[in-house]
Amino acid sequence: MTNTSWSPSSWRAKPVRYIPDDYPDLSALARVEAELARLPPLVHAEETRRLREALGQVAEGKAFLLQGGDCAESFKEFSAENVRGTFQLLLQMAGVLTFAGGCPVVKVGRIAGQFAKPRSNATETVNGVTLPSYRGDIINGMDFDARERTPDPQRLLRAYHQSAETMQLVRAFAREGYTDLTRLLGHRPESEGAVRPVDFFTSHEALLLNVEQAMTRVDEATGGWYDASAHMLWIGERTRQLDGGHVEFMRGIQNPIGLKCGPTLEPDDLVRLIDTLNPQGIPGKLTLIGRFGSDQVAARLPRLMAATRRHGSPVVWSIDPMHGNTHKASNGYKTRSLERILAEVMGFLQVAAAEGVHPGGLHLEMTGQDVTECLGGPLDVSEDDLSDRYHTHCDPRLNADQSLQLAFRVADGLHTTVRTPQDRAA
Ligand code: PEP
Ligand code: CO
Repeated sequence: MTNTSWSPSSWRAKPVRYIPDDYPDLSALARVEAELARLPPLVHAEETRRLREALGQVAEGKAFLLQGGDCAESFKEFSAENVRGTFQLLLQMAGVLTFAGGCPVVKVGRIAGQFAKPRSNATETVNGVTLPSYRGDIINGMDFDARERTPDPQRLLRAYHQSAETMQLVRAFAREGYTDLTRLLGHRPESEGAVRPVDFFTSHEALLLNVEQAMTRVDEATGGWYDASAHMLWIGERTRQLDGGHVEFMRGIQNPIGLKCGPTLEPDDLVRLIDTLNPQGIPGKLTLIGRFGSDQVAARLPRLMAATRRHGSPVVWSIDPMHGNTHKASNGYKTRSLERILAEVMGFLQVAAAEGVHPGGLHLEMTGQDVTECLGGPLDVSEDDLSDRYHTHCDPRLNADQSLQLAFRVADGLHTTVRTPQDRAA
């Protein structure tokens, strides 16, 4: 299975889930896909290789991965201020984690392409009217009317262009970023006046394989296929079937990739996925992103970590404490409590310490905006506060205060639960 020939379109012969098949005009969709294939890359293969090397350091226990951003980017919320807000927040959190953990932090945004959502329910019913669910601005619109909810291929182009603009902003902020950060943290740059550019990378869930295929190009320098839509792509919890199209597509690209590992994943299947996705055992190629829920992490994670340790292929182990901790508030808002989010991260650190595995990363849904979407935090957001500034287009995000509090608590936890490589050797 793993050695059969791969091409950017070989996924089309496999079963796929969550890719819309209800576009009213398939020839219009095909024209858009062809146009995307002609448009410039959003990222360069050389940068992507640099991320893979940085993640290789994480796999070796010498660095930490911080990955975060919106659940779903949207056309409406796009502005330079919002991009800057998320960018700066990630840098501040990375600063906190760097000083506490004493190791470099690899910074990866869920940004510049994180638009498509796999929805658990294909349809939504309001007052007896049933329409297709909202699936992210790249597919359809959020308003509850039949026209908005119909998939529109022009949205693929709009998402591409917004991603290109976001990329440009992120690159500009990264060039000016380091001095800003040192000022924020009250430290002077090492050499006065010198600007140290920040390494900042982009990522999104590789859900729409037609788009990913169009963005996948041969790198002239190495002859390898790179998906130029982002530096890192990940496979979602709902699309990680071993014989499915998503795993097929992802096994052929050279980008570092993530794999969401939820409560139903069995160790044997995880090992098969590792062998399929990273047969050569390249360090930094594969990041496993656990997402179990605070009540299940202690039961589900140890067997998976033990399996990867026994198997021996290098992986980054990261934790997404968001997607297993979502609940409905009594007033109907979809929310998450910071306490449960923290509990899952602490559970992750404890299991990793017990299994002798490096707790390598954190994967978050967060924003620099002052939203009220998750409960708790420094201002103790309550259920009654949720309606004040609930702006997300999909899942509830941590706001800036909540994210920083989490970073401080995780930094603390890393200090107390993680043994240094020297301790391990002793
Ligand atoms: C996500 O990261 O937005 C997501 C849908 O996660 P998962 O695939 O883990 O449910
Ligand atoms: Co989400």
